[in-house]
Amino acid sequence: MRTREAKLPDAERIHELISVYSGDGTLLPRTFAEICENVRDFVVLVRDRRIIGCGALHLYGQHLAEIRSITVDPAEQGSGGGKRLVKALLDQAKKHRVTCICLFTRKPEFFSQLGFAVAQREDLPDKIHKDCCVCPRFHFCDEVAMVRGELPKFAILPEPTRWLVKLQV
Ligand SMILES: CC(C)(COP(=O)(O)OP(=O)(O)OC[C@H]1O[C@@H](n2cnc3c(N)ncnc32)[C@H](O)[C@@H]1OP(=O)(O)O)[C@@H](O)C(=O)NCCC(=O)NCCS
Repeated sequence: MRTREAKLPDAERIHELISVYSGDGTLLPRTFAEICENVRDFVVLVRDRRIIGCGALHLYGQHLAEIRSITVDPAEQGSGGGKRLVKALLDQAKKHRVTCICLFTRKPEFFSQLGFAVAQREDLPDKIHKDCCVCPRFHFCDEVAMVRGELPKFAILPEPTRWLVKLQV
């Protein structure tokens, strides 16, 4: 079992893997087009030349990146693949010198073993602005925000909002 950076021909399989868990809300649904567009964010888990898992690292800036869409084929879980994917994404974050990695999950126990600690959603405005604001579950979100590293001291938001927002520390 090994991980590698994803390529465009992997997009269909990545879409399939994410779809298994997006119906019940475990993972955010990702369209095929979205996966193609962001395929360079993805790492895949391969065994015997078959893709059995995937995960993505979305870069907001050097102050913050987010682990997203992490999943292992149900038939292949419990063999260390999930852990490998997280480590590969953390390596990517290190390569880009990102100081804080966040994620939103309903499985905090899995990520706490990998050095993530529970955080407040409000500490991560980049993420709130990107996804939460348009999420139908915004007011009754049951996901736990987690971070690894130093909490961001600012956020980079797209126009027309001021692009750089300093946070209270
Ligand atoms: C979460 C997930 C990626 C883990 O993948 P996996 O290949 O089964 O995980 P691993 O085999 O690497 O497990 C690593 C460790 O985490 C533990 N673990 C695995 N899934 C867990 C869970 N749901 N809750 C708590 N601990 C978990 C394992 O027991 C193992 O512990 P150990 O090292 O002490 O034996 C996989 O269960 C999955 O795809 N789930 C559906 C999608 C999902 O929930 N994604 C994460 C939400 S954002």
